[in-house]
Amino acid sequence: MNTIITGLQWGDEGKGKIVDYLTESADVVIRGQGGNNAGHTVIANGVKYVLHLLPSGILWPGKLNVIGNGVVVDPAGLVDEITRIESQGVAVTPENLLISDRAHVVLPLHKELDAAREAALGDRRIGTTKRGIGPAYADKINRCGLRLADLTDRAFCEAQIRRRVNEANPLLARHQLAQFDADEVIASVFTAFERLRPHVCNTIPVVHDAWKTGRNLLFEGAQGTLLDIDFGTYPFVTSSNTTAGGSCTGSGLPPTAIDSVIGVCKAYTTRVGSGPFPTGDEGLSDYLHGLGREFGATTGRPRGCGWLDTVLLRFACMVNGVTGLAVTNVDGLDAYDTLRICTGYEIDGIVHTLPPADRTAWDRAKPVYEELPGWNCDTTGCTAYPQLPDAAKLYLTRLGELCGAPIAFVGVGPDRAQTLPVA
Ligand code: IMP
Repeated sequence: MNTIITGLQWGDEGKGKIVDYLTESADVVIRGQGGNNAGHTVIANGVKYVLHLLPSGILWPGKLNVIGNGVVVDPAGLVDEITRIESQGVAVTPENLLISDRAHVVLPLHKELDAAREAALGDRRIGTTKRGIGPAYADKINRCGLRLADLTDRAFCEAQIRRRVNEANPLLARHQLAQFDADEVIASVFTAFERLRPHVCNTIPVVHDAWKTGRNLLFEGAQGTLLDIDFGTYPFVTSSNTTAGGSCTGSGLPPTAIDSVIGVCKAYTTRVGSGPFPTGDEGLSDYLHGLGREFGATTGRPRGCGWLDTVLLRFACMVNGVTGLAVTNVDGLDAYDTLRICTGYEIDGIVHTLPPADRTAWDRAKPVYEELPGWNCDTTGCTAYPQLPDAAKLYLTRLGELCGAPIAFVGVGPDRAQTLPVA
């Protein structure tokens, strides 16, 4: 059984937790896009792990984890992450982690260029994580990027890095940002690469062999559908295909290898960075932040919070081909008397049930809500779906109806034991 796990909102849906849960029956866990802009927090046996580039399967013994060709890898960032996770007692070896030699490299100067671009945009900034993701993917598309395979040819890479540093420095100077010393960049990239080198290989035959021999593959999507470069709230998006198709192009496995797509969403909506957020609600944001919830794992930024938006979810279920929904953070709504679900956007007097492409239409979109009773009790102790209060089941059933996909899992807390399968 080969399953893609994909985010249906603006990222941070709790995918890491669902991946971690499903990893028990998986043999191989694969990341196909994004970079260390992603931040997955997984709590297992009471221990908190924060993962950025490493697939969540790394926390399990005996699983193979693959960073696929579609990912952009910051070598120094990945080495830091490996060092941190090893200090928590998790061994990272070529037996449990392989990295595609086709994956593109995020250079230190990509991060500064990210910051420079954001500064130049002023009020129109995207609100990126400043991890260099956009500039690294831009180099890939412009056909001037470096891939991990290239790092084995040091002379070639040194020349490329010197050229890129010479191009970048005048731009960075214009924005009063630190300029780069090419020798330092080269030293930092190659020091990190030495730690990664034993893991780097052609991962495509490895994942094909796993598929052909009937092993269970799990694809771990990063970010979410509304951050997808094609389907998201462009230009307030990330620079990769975060939707299900990105798992195929980002790993070298064909669509025919995929059996199911689990779409992960929160029981409400959150987003970080700039851009439209029709159901954003200050009261709900204040309430959730007051509970210590909804602070970004990568940047620590408070996330904007809002009511459940089924206009976005309906679209996300369509473009991902979702076969089952995993609804997380249901416990975040435990103390509410009345809950709102957005079923449409009114734009210039017409109700739309799918999101617009026109960026100016977003500014005029007024959410159309229906209200449902809250459950007003603690759900965090529920250990099976039938134990949820009736009002919570009603809310989830309505969510599934409006999105056109069945509910497969419900999350009532961060621990593995708080992920409840729906029979
Ligand atoms: P970038 O991916 O750093 O270029 O940022 C582009 C947009 O995607 C910004 O709005 C970020 O906040 C958002 N973003 C990137 N990664 C994540 C994530 O893992 N969770 C939520 N938002 C993200």
